[in-house]
Amino acid sequence: MKNSIFRKKSVDELLHQHGKVQLNKTLGAFDLMLLGVGAIVGTGIFILPGTVAAEHAGPGIIFSFIIAAIVCAFAAMCYSEFSSSIPVTGSAYTYSYVVFGELVAWIVGWSLILEYCLAVAAVATGWSAYLNSLLAGFNIHIPKALSGAFDPANGTYVNLPAILIIIIMAFLLSFGVKESTKLNTIMVGLKVAVILLFIIVGVFYVEPANWKPFMPFGTSGILSGAALVFFAYLGFDAVSSAAEEVKNPQRNMPIGIIGSLLICTILYVTVSLVLTGMVPYTELNVSNPVSFAMQLVHQDWVSDIISLGAVIGMMTVILVMLYGSTRLIFAFSRDGLLPKVMSEVNSKNQTPIKNTWITAILIAICAGFVPLDKLTELVNMGTLLAFTVVSIGIIQLRKNKDIPTGGFKVPFFPVIPIISFVLCIYLMSQLSLHTIIFCGIWMIIGLIIYFIYGKKHSLLNK
Ligand code: ALA
Repeated sequence: MKNSIFRKKSVDELLHQHGKVQLNKTLGAFDLMLLGVGAIVGTGIFILPGTVAAEHAGPGIIFSFIIAAIVCAFAAMCYSEFSSSIPVTGSAYTYSYVVFGELVAWIVGWSLILEYCLAVAAVATGWSAYLNSLLAGFNIHIPKALSGAFDPANGTYVNLPAILIIIIMAFLLSFGVKESTKLNTIMVGLKVAVILLFIIVGVFYVEPANWKPFMPFGTSGILSGAALVFFAYLGFDAVSSAAEEVKNPQRNMPIGIIGSLLICTILYVTVSLVLTGMVPYTELNVSNPVSFAMQLVHQDWVSDIISLGAVIGMMTVILVMLYGSTRLIFAFSRDGLLPKVMSEVNSKNQTPIKNTWITAILIAICAGFVPLDKLTELVNMGTLLAFTVVSIGIIQLRKNKDIPTGGFKVPFFPVIPIISFVLCIYLMSQLSLHTIIFCGIWMIIGLIIYFIYGKKHSLLNK
């Protein structure tokens, strides 16, 4: 077993290790929900309702949001069971290491890198669009060539603001800035407040005629829309990484994870309904639909406040996700699966500086040159892959007799994990062919790295 690609980390050892470090258990269910909403609400709600309604689902995008939420809820239950049974950090990567062994853990981790890194790039791209809209309110215009992904036909070459915001966030992280709960609370409050402002003002401008036809692209449009808006819910898995710091994780983890999903679903569906009611869906193919809708109805000040709120709110998502990417790569390297340089910490402030900068520069390149829709598709693919493994992993987990009993259990076992698995596979099949091909290439690169490097250097060899 020692040299096998299926060698596993032992649950006992993991829990034991965790016993030694003893992080303060301070977070309750409400804190977890705040953390969740902080990590979840970002580009998705401020951008996707526009493009996805225009090109895929029409006003029926609300069903896309609901379907994506259901898929996430099933996966969230599986995450909850894992994180309440094995409350250690590392999320899906660690879970797979325990139940399926090293190769699957590597594949999941490798998909998570795709998810986290490209999510940072995608959110930075969305941030850039809202920054443009905010600056335009003050009559400041970033030259077109520097404000979008590489698309010479459209006159854009590089998305400079997106690159800059990633560099700024990497700078913050390399100083060891901890995302403080207090700051997070303020940001979450701000994000939710601008979303509510949009809903409250927007309701007065809804023309029910804009909702006809409600499903112009039929069911297939709704389903492909669901695979895209799925992006808007990402981040709830980040809640599971806080497991070591949660009071009574058996009870609070599931409430935190599922509660944040519920809040986001309500916000997303309401925003989409108001947005498509205010503006005909055919006109929504813009990069800043929410503030654009307010401009159309001449509520310029509301539009500016929304842009400002979006710009600030998206920064936390970039920070949290960039942090997540670097720590995931750190974990690989610490386990011996990637070169040691990625887990070297700087002696002054105990942060993995080289890792942070290498990761940030690669992400910045993607953010600068790849358009948002391509980025979100790839992010979704990476995430869905991790979700499928976590869902099916529950079945494996229940067979493991070392797991402490008494934690949260997915109801209707094994029906829900199986439905979750099937739904994730189905949503993956809705993504475009080039996304699937790109992911295939990404996986092949990952496997080559594993067999050439990771397998030989894994700590489990010792
Ligand atoms: N859910 C995150 C967002 O929408 C990724 O920005």
